[in-house]
Amino acid sequence: MTTTKTKGRIADLRAAVTAEQYGTCGIGHTRWATHGVPSESNAHPHQSHSGRFTLVHNGVIDNYRQLQATYLNGVNLKSDTDTEVVVQMMDVFAKDGLSTEEIFRAVLNELAGSYAFGLIDMQREGELFFAKNKSPLLIGVGNDAMMLASDAMAVIRQTDQFVEINDREMGVLTAESYHLFDGDTNEVVVRAPYTAAIDADDVEKGMYPHYMMKEMDEQPGVIRRIVQKYQAKDGSFTIDADLMAAINAADRLYIVACGTSYHAGLIGRKLIEEKAGIPVEVVVASEFGYDMPLLSAKPVFLFISQSGETADSRQVLVKIKQLGHTAITLTNVAGSTLSREASHTLLLHAGPEIAVASTKAYTAQVAVLSILAETLGKANGHTQTNDMVHELGIVANAMQTIIDEKEQIQQLVHDYVATTRNAFFLGRGVDYFVSLEAALKLKEISYIQAEGFSSGELKHGTIALIEDNTPVIALITQPHTQLQIRSNCSEVQSRGAHVATVVTESLAQPEDTFVIPNTALELTPLVSVVFTQLFAYYAALARDCDVDKPRNLAKSVTVE
Ligand code: G6P
Repeated sequence: MTTTKTKGRIADLRAAVTAEQYGTCGIGHTRWATHGVPSESNAHPHQSHSGRFTLVHNGVIDNYRQLQATYLNGVNLKSDTDTEVVVQMMDVFAKDGLSTEEIFRAVLNELAGSYAFGLIDMQREGELFFAKNKSPLLIGVGNDAMMLASDAMAVIRQTDQFVEINDREMGVLTAESYHLFDGDTNEVVVRAPYTAAIDADDVEKGMYPHYMMKEMDEQPGVIRRIVQKYQAKDGSFTIDADLMAAINAADRLYIVACGTSYHAGLIGRKLIEEKAGIPVEVVVASEFGYDMPLLSAKPVFLFISQSGETADSRQVLVKIKQLGHTAITLTNVAGSTLSREASHTLLLHAGPEIAVASTKAYTAQVAVLSILAETLGKANGHTQTNDMVHELGIVANAMQTIIDEKEQIQQLVHDYVATTRNAFFLGRGVDYFVSLEAALKLKEISYIQAEGFSSGELKHGTIALIEDNTPVIALITQPHTQLQIRSNCSEVQSRGAHVATVVTESLAQPEDTFVIPNTALELTPLVSVVFTQLFAYYAALARDCDVDKPRNLAKSVTVE
């Protein structure tokens, strides 16, 4: 067996692998550093000192220091990782007469934390052992090969047949077969493959320079597809009756999410409260799980997650299920962990999103939330709502208009943020929520220190940061707050800020910087955000950043 490790991109690893290393059984992992810096010595796989066991691991072993103290006294470790502790324990636990499965299970029984493991034992040629707890892992069933992957998309060109692995299950693959066991009872688990509905062509970048540009461009089409998917034969929207009943039985809906999905949740709150009259709270998953507020009497939980795999969200899902509450998941990935473990799923139908910075998944989330809000509102008679099918059609066209004006946005980037240290986005209400997403997008991919502020709150502290030429981008789409935001703009302008205003057509003044088409007022976030996505994209380009794979980030964050 041979091992090759590199720091950096997969392309670097590919270049380092030689033809002599090609084989028929192997394991690999792109590490998102949790213990120890990104380096070759910390990169996976890790090998036990005897050379018998080699391991890759996604997850975090919480008790690795205690395990090291208990079992590896005097054992020299070659890396700073929790993973190496596990593989060295395999050597310690290996005794004559014990099978690989028995050694592996004995080690697994000692572990606290999350893991998706791929293990090779030199004494069992052509077999690949695996185990899963909390971190995602699937078996891919090919025509002439078996594989393991954290995500179906990673191997969709090889197969569309997958077998789910549940927490605390383990097993072994050969080229022709897979065997699954319950990790606790050792009983055989029989589970048939399912077909993943991912089009391999959707995973290609095609003529686009970056996935992010492709995915931004796809947004009008995604909105139209969502309308179609949620439309009943009579043309109105329809949502699973059980899911609707679950929400209608609740006295409060808790939206749980992280990052961009959290920002979509903020818009969702507004839509659901206004259209359906149901009180909504939006919470950050990583906080909520460990600092749970006093819940209402009959709460229902809506998890929003593009990937459906985010560990922070999942820990909340596990906790609220233990409390006996209902979970609904809004995700782009059918069959993902959060979807499987919730009672109901709403799908985004956005197609695979590859760029780390989420764009079409965000707008898909907001669109599906608007459909959910409208459908709930119509069913419970809260509002005489407008024709959302028609309104979303207008949104799709408005998005296209902005995409077609991308060169103008590129020019604005040049004028405002090409060399800046920081930038601020302002708004009130939904414009504030979009400001938060705008700032996150700019931070994620251009590394400009950016913040989104409610424009009224600016004067209570943040205005101290405004200096000559500080870029401030104000989003103005709501008639009832437009004058206030404009006043806040002139306050920062008086202190030297370089202000750009992004305004809907009906509110636009001659001096405004960029005009976006009118849409239904509650849907303006779907349009204004497209401006901010393109703005972030061109800022990243201007600064020569890796648009699709920004530093330190991962598409699917499966550790807490
Ligand atoms: C990571 C990504 C973000 C994303 C967040 C939530 O931090 O880098 O872009 O918004 O996870 O992901 P999810 O898949 O749960 O929507």
